[in-house]
Amino acid sequence: MRRTSRRLKPFLAVSALLVALAAPLAVAQTVPATPAAAWPKTVAIPADPALEERIRQLLARMTLEQKVAQMVQPDIRSVTPADVRRYHLGSILNGGGAFPANEKHATIADWVKLADEFYDASMAPGEGAVAIPIFWGTDAVHGHNNVIGATLFPHNIGLGAARDPDLMEKIGAATAQEVAATGIDWAFAPTVAVVRDDHWGRTYEGYSEDPELVSAYAGRMVRGLQGAAGTPAFLDGTHVLATAKHYIGDGGTKAGVDRGDNVADEQLLLDIHGQGYVSALNAGVQTVMVSYNSWQGWKMHGHQYLITEVLKKRMGFDGLVVSDWNGIDEVQGCSKDSCAAAVKAGIDLFMVPEDWQRFLANTIGQVKSGDIPQERIDDAVARILRVKIRAGLFDKGRPSTRPLANKNGIVGAADHRELARQAVRESLVLLKNGGVLPLKPRARVLVAGDGADNIGKQAGGWTISWQGTGNANADFPGATSIYAGIRAAVTAAGGTAELAPDGSHTRRPDVAIVVFGENPYAEYEGNVKALSLPNGSADLALLRKLKKAGIPVVAVLINGRPMWVKEHIDAADAFVVAWLPGTEGAGIADVLFRNPAGAVRFDFRGKLSFSWPKDGSQAPLNVHDDGYDPLFPFGFGLAYAERGSR
Ligand code: BGC
Ligand code: BGC
Repeated sequence: MRRTSRRLKPFLAVSALLVALAAPLAVAQTVPATPAAAWPKTVAIPADPALEERIRQLLARMTLEQKVAQMVQPDIRSVTPADVRRYHLGSILNGGGAFPANEKHATIADWVKLADEFYDASMAPGEGAVAIPIFWGTDAVHGHNNVIGATLFPHNIGLGAARDPDLMEKIGAATAQEVAATGIDWAFAPTVAVVRDDHWGRTYEGYSEDPELVSAYAGRMVRGLQGAAGTPAFLDGTHVLATAKHYIGDGGTKAGVDRGDNVADEQLLLDIHGQGYVSALNAGVQTVMVSYNSWQGWKMHGHQYLITEVLKKRMGFDGLVVSDWNGIDEVQGCSKDSCAAAVKAGIDLFMVPEDWQRFLANTIGQVKSGDIPQERIDDAVARILRVKIRAGLFDKGRPSTRPLANKNGIVGAADHRELARQAVRESLVLLKNGGVLPLKPRARVLVAGDGADNIGKQAGGWTISWQGTGNANADFPGATSIYAGIRAAVTAAGGTAELAPDGSHTRRPDVAIVVFGENPYAEYEGNVKALSLPNGSADLALLRKLKKAGIPVVAVLINGRPMWVKEHIDAADAFVVAWLPGTEGAGIADVLFRNPAGAVRFDFRGKLSFSWPKDGSQAPLNVHDDGYDPLFPFGFGLAYAERGSR
């Protein structure tokens, strides 16, 4: 079932003990009388009295059991359509690595069929119960990444370097179409984390260390996914619900520890970590996911002040707040199947992937015993219904009958792939060019490094599986590895491209392109102590070996965070940061090579959205810091007209 890293286990054991000791002492969290920061009021969708009346009528017909069941979101590995019919469950998700019938190679038709089965179960709830359409959420965080054959865009860290908010909206729209094609209603994206310490295993899920850039992107991505609020496109059949996550402060924990403590004061919490939410809420985002982290020692999943006072009241968020995967377990005195404190704090929908049945019974019991006020349940369910009504779920019909469902050519569509390839081109950051780039394609090109022909590696975490591991190139139909893209560009011009991960060659090439970097990871599995490459010395030896043989060397780094690679940069003639480009590896050759006639096809335009460290321990390192002294500053990125490095 749920994997727990070896590194995390001793920590979990100790914290479980501490929680057990602390539980009887758990006190109610103190809510500041006046907020210490001016959280802005946001408005995207004006109140609609008819809609509110419809919610009231639905609520009036629901039993307590049915209401609480609306608040529950199990994972498809642990729930069946029969359960949905029996308990009237309101939502499901597929976590990373969950597929219909546990079949990784499930087809689009399989996804839609399962969506129909759950939908049908929700609409035939049996005697006396109100039929409320279920909704299904998925982590479409860089395209519809759990689905074989989907277009995978660069992870957010690469999109940040592209500095192109218009592109975000297009990527959101393309992603929404691919999600809708599988009959799914909701994407758990965008991540609007402002990443302040790159030791964090989720650094690549963030657009930037800079709140301004995150703010410029968040709303546009939401608009792309959901359609523009106030227009007929909003949540129509080609759009899906979006989620701003993880509320709040996930990117600012001490030492970048996943699920750790963010100790910023309230003004900084708003100015840095809050900006993505302001932007997403103003674009009408309908759901917000709570974070695993704490703020000043208090776990967010139990944080009434930040969830209810700040997000819902001050900022005026009227959509639904969803918990993260077993996130309630993080709260002092709670477990995976029981957490009155989280309900009272203001969470509306509970991602209780496995222990949903006990959570349901426990929560119903807590309402009956008066521990959870009935009004809190009514508010939570009203919010869930509001979002379902706005998403048109009562009118859209069975998933298979919706406009894009099962439609050929949507998942992995040629125009989506073209968009992703454009995003790859725009995301590349050139750190050094000794004059070797741009390359002539009519040449003998050696392509080396373990990342050259490895689509799983170039796609990173949250790719088919949760950690992005265990995938082969055959798991990515329609995708292009970096090597395949180079080969296509070179052979079209009459050159040759030879693949040799270890750099071996029989005839001396005109140039070597070496692709190397981090292997896929997600969440806490990706936490690191130092920003150095896992296989760094072998990669360095390869660069040096080729260089020593007199071959011009172009280094291409695959990375989910800035890394200490000074020696690699020194060893190469040109150094390109490719981040985690996704399925369209051809975007790299587009920029590295001239066209057959000798003209530059695409210049570099990526600019660092994260500061680049001078050594493996230089973190936190963020633009506007006192004494800011990076190797490459925020905003750095060469174009062809500018030679050199630092
Ligand atoms: C992650 C979320 C994700 C959820 C569902 C959690 O572990 O933190 O980002 O949406 O799992 O897969
Ligand atoms: C699930 C992921 C989830 C993670 C949380 C995994 O087992 O598949 O979706 O985010 O656990 O820790």
